[in-house]
Amino acid sequence: MRPAVRARGLRRRFGAIEAVRGVDLEVFPGEVFGLLGPNGAGKTTTVRMLTGVLRPSEGEAWVLGKSVVKEPEAVKATIGYATQEASVYPYLTARQNLEFRAGLYLPRNQVANAVEEALSRFGLAEVARRSAGNHAQGARSF
Ligand SMILES: Nc1ncnc2c1ncn2[C@@H]1O[C@H](COP(=O)(O)OP(=O)(O)OP(=O)(O)O)[C@@H](O)[C@H]1O
Ligand SMILES: [Mg+2]
Repeated sequence: MRPAVRARGLRRRFGAIEAVRGVDLEVFPGEVFGLLGPNGAGKTTTVRMLTGVLRPSEGEAWVLGKSVVKEPEAVKATIGYATQEASVYPYLTARQNLEFRAGLYLPRNQVANAVEEALSRFGLAEVARRSAGNHAQGARSF
């Protein structure tokens, strides 16, 4: 089976700091993979390289066969990334949060449709006008 994520000799320097010193790893489809290390070990820097956000100083990595060095945009278009903190603006409504996000990625004339589709797909239509910060205390229980 082909690895979903593969890294070979991944390194990253920030000036004199060597943040990541040669990471080799393989993660297979369906596998749950934990990357552990003390503060400053280079975990976030590694994830930034694997997601195509940060260019490695040396080495290579592939996500579903796509090179994070040669085709970082293709990698970003392929993956989903769930951050530790939810990136939701609490004072915007659900609809406004989605409109903001969609506006970063889509042509203006596609935003409204995409937002409606997402609201309905995730069962958020009825809370679309409520500020996102109130959702946790809202009527719905997840
Ligand atoms: N943009 C940057 N510029 C300079 N140094 C950086 C930068 N990003 C990270 N570093 C340094 O690289 C090293 C690795 O940092 P990184 O954030 O990847 O570690 P981490 O394992 O995610 O740590 P933590 O557990 O605290 O989240 C640290 O010494 C950090 O200070
Ligand atoms: Mg970190």
